[in-house]
Amino acid sequence: MPSILPQAVDTRLTHAAIFLVATVNAGPDHEAAVRSLGTDIAAIIRAVGFRIPDGRLTCVMGIGSDAWDRIFGPPRPKDLHPFREIRGRHNALATPGDLLFHIRATRMDLCFELATQIVSHLGSAIVVVDEVHGFSFFDERDLLGFVDGTENPVDEAAVEATIIGEEDAAFAGGSYVIVQKYLHNLAAWNTLPVEQQERIIGRRKLNDIEIADAEKASFAHNVLTSIEEDGKPLEILRDNMPFGDVGKGEFGTYFIGYARSPRRIELMLENMFIGNPPGNYDRLLDYSRAVTGVLCFVPSAAFLENAAAAPALAGEVAAGSTGAGGSADGSLGIGSLKQEAGHE
Ligand code: HEM
Repeated sequence: MPSILPQAVDTRLTHAAIFLVATVNAGPDHEAAVRSLGTDIAAIIRAVGFRIPDGRLTCVMGIGSDAWDRIFGPPRPKDLHPFREIRGRHNALATPGDLLFHIRATRMDLCFELATQIVSHLGSAIVVVDEVHGFSFFDERDLLGFVDGTENPVDEAAVEATIIGEEDAAFAGGSYVIVQKYLHNLAAWNTLPVEQQERIIGRRKLNDIEIADAEKASFAHNVLTSIEEDGKPLEILRDNMPFGDVGKGEFGTYFIGYARSPRRIELMLENMFIGNPPGNYDRLLDYSRAVTGVLCFVPSAAFLENAAAAPALAGEVAAGSTGAGGSADGSLGIGSLKQEAGHE
């Protein structure tokens, strides 16, 4: 368990989510506005969330690689870099994104109000370049009809998979996040026999039971995204959400994956888009097109809280040189985040 309080990365799945991706306009005032939001965001979440106490409102704020240098300066999280495009059988594109807000609650009104407060706090400092309102769809299914999220790590395994520890002590309590917006060709997908869809995903559609390893196709989604290091599985935490616009014929999955190192998510993406071995790519991509791709660092709650006061020192604070490990907790006043941090 990390001693530095993380943001609400590891929460239970919710019925509603808003994903906001924004760019930050150039200029010291705009960069200061982002640091100021970092300091205020816990109080804003608390104020909005308190109105519906069992609404489980949370928000994770992530910062992209280029924006990090402009907004916080050195030191940098050691694995932070821009989203790396992958050109394979299909392409994983990199798109603009300096800030990511992942807002989750059991009800959309909570998400909507918090998104409104965040955008109004940042005012002219940002341009929202992508906004997706996600909803849960029957038994946690995606719009392809499969239950999505089953093999996610939970409790301590989720913290272990997502929260940085000693490997980057100055940024302990942080995490990395990758988002991609996928649009499905549902008409084509629905022409496939269910057995073929199940071979592509690697699980049964109706009851979500995993296909036995011996029977799985080598290109199954759950084969290509299962990765190991020294014989141990390398896990990530996903909270994908369906979204869409029926009138426009738009049906999508917003992929979001958290991990303590971006490399794990990148390896999964390489397996999916290039294939493992190359050419043995993820057939899900024949029916799902990635139209965005952004990588962000998710600093600890303590780092954000201190951002406005001493941006250059923020890394040091997170590392505990001012006693942040224990006292950060007490001085932050971010009870709503704390409750969520360990999967209550
Ligand atoms: C169109 C986008 C995507 C859809 C619809 C989708 C859907 C699914 C479904 C239905 C499952 C099986 C149930 C489960 O264990 O959750 C699954 C598993 C999984 N997916 Fe995806 N996924 C998408 C993109 C991605 C991406 C981009 C990644 C990683 C970069 C990823 C990583 C995983 C992992 C790690 C598993 C669990 C594998 C296992 O251990 O069995 N998925 N996904």
